[in-house]
Amino acid sequence: MYQKNQMPKQSGLDHSAALLREGYLFISQSADDLRTNVFETRLLAQRAYCLRGHQAAALFYDTDKFYRQGVAPLPVRKTLFGEGGVQGLDDAAHRHRKALFMGLFTPDAEAQLSQLMREQLRFNAQGWATEAQVIWYQQAKQVLTQVACKWVGVPLAAEEVETRTEQLSQMYELAGEVGLSHFKGWRARSHAEQWIAGIVRQVRDSSLTVPAHTPLFQFCWHRDLEGELLSDQVVAVEVLNLLRPTVANAVWMAFAASALHQYPQAAATLQHGESHATQRFGQEVRRYYPFFPFTVAKVRHNFSWNEMLFAQDTLTLLDIYGTHHHPDEWHQPHQFNPQRYLSEKTSSFNFLAQGGGDYDQGHRCAGEWVTQIILAQTIDFLRHELDYQLPEQDLSYSFSQIPALPKSRVVMQRVSLK
Ligand code: HEM
Repeated sequence: MYQKNQMPKQSGLDHSAALLREGYLFISQSADDLRTNVFETRLLAQRAYCLRGHQAAALFYDTDKFYRQGVAPLPVRKTLFGEGGVQGLDDAAHRHRKALFMGLFTPDAEAQLSQLMREQLRFNAQGWATEAQVIWYQQAKQVLTQVACKWVGVPLAAEEVETRTEQLSQMYELAGEVGLSHFKGWRARSHAEQWIAGIVRQVRDSSLTVPAHTPLFQFCWHRDLEGELLSDQVVAVEVLNLLRPTVANAVWMAFAASALHQYPQAAATLQHGESHATQRFGQEVRRYYPFFPFTVAKVRHNFSWNEMLFAQDTLTLLDIYGTHHHPDEWHQPHQFNPQRYLSEKTSSFNFLAQGGGDYDQGHRCAGEWVTQIILAQTIDFLRHELDYQLPEQDLSYSFSQIPALPKSRVVMQRVSLK
């Protein structure tokens, strides 16, 4: 029977330019204009749906309704994700590969990562003490490259740290760029994949021995549903799916340092050894500041939801930043307030910093626990172990720059261990 489509529609031929211009704010501003949480638009000359809010997020994460294979645009695959990784898998193949990622999350791994992170911060801080000033974001990327390689089992010589830090960070820093900058991101991925594929071959021909508990070892010897080993290239993509986003946590380390400075009242709640307060602070950093603007999927088959028709194969964007700043989802969402987690209800559909829904069945971030550890260690370290001053600087960020970052990258002076 004919059904009228009630989905609000944005007028105009194409909104790609507005998306680039408005960045993190594009979906919420358009949705506010149309007074809706779900609307149809046109991006790159094609129909697309935009969703925000927990109800729409629950729909988006229904894997019977949306799929991921081939969905990420080519430039994103060429820089951020790579080809053949878990992000583009569906159904049984996805669940099987995802189980490998989720299996890395053991209490031992958690303890090891916390320790690695703290030790590396302390070690590198000795060098910062001799500098007139430190660019915290740059230092955070190096710390995380060193921690990530140790944790994953990838050998990293001291003289390689700078180059590998650049390669790993350019993959996420330049993924949203066009032209020459995008080409640099593409080149960084290609070099990084060659680097890791070479290490994978060494593990497989036994010229490099790595402990069996390391993620590198586990990915090298993982078998797919047909019982086959993954190709060297796909193992490289998956190992980079651990290294790259771990280094990307430098963005949140920068925002965390900025928040400690800009919200002294919130920082004052962080008493030594009070881990819940630290976790709440880290949680609020992930909600309040922008990182991933949205995540994408495509409609699996025609269906209707709340009298709105969703057409098969249509690109669908779930607004992360907009959901985190929607007044129906959060009390005074534009205030930085870690105490909100004492009284406000959060769910896997309104807190979407690293995706929503289910880890095992869906595409929610496999590294959320890694991020929580990194942020907790960072906040505690900055608050209780490092002496530093922030000189006058521009800590604001642009909503059209993806990923957003404090403009000054957080400059510190008079840095020393307490
Ligand atoms: C900087 C902090 C991070 C952010 C903002 C972030 C964000 C995200 C987002 C938004 C998704 C997609 C969710 C979706 O499409 O539904 C995702 C997926 C993923 N993330 Fe993260 N992530 C971060 C850190 C990490 C870390 C540290 C790791 C690994 C150590 C990791 C590994 C992954 C993997 C493997 C996926 C794909 C999961 C799948 O397709 O099933 N991420 N992440």
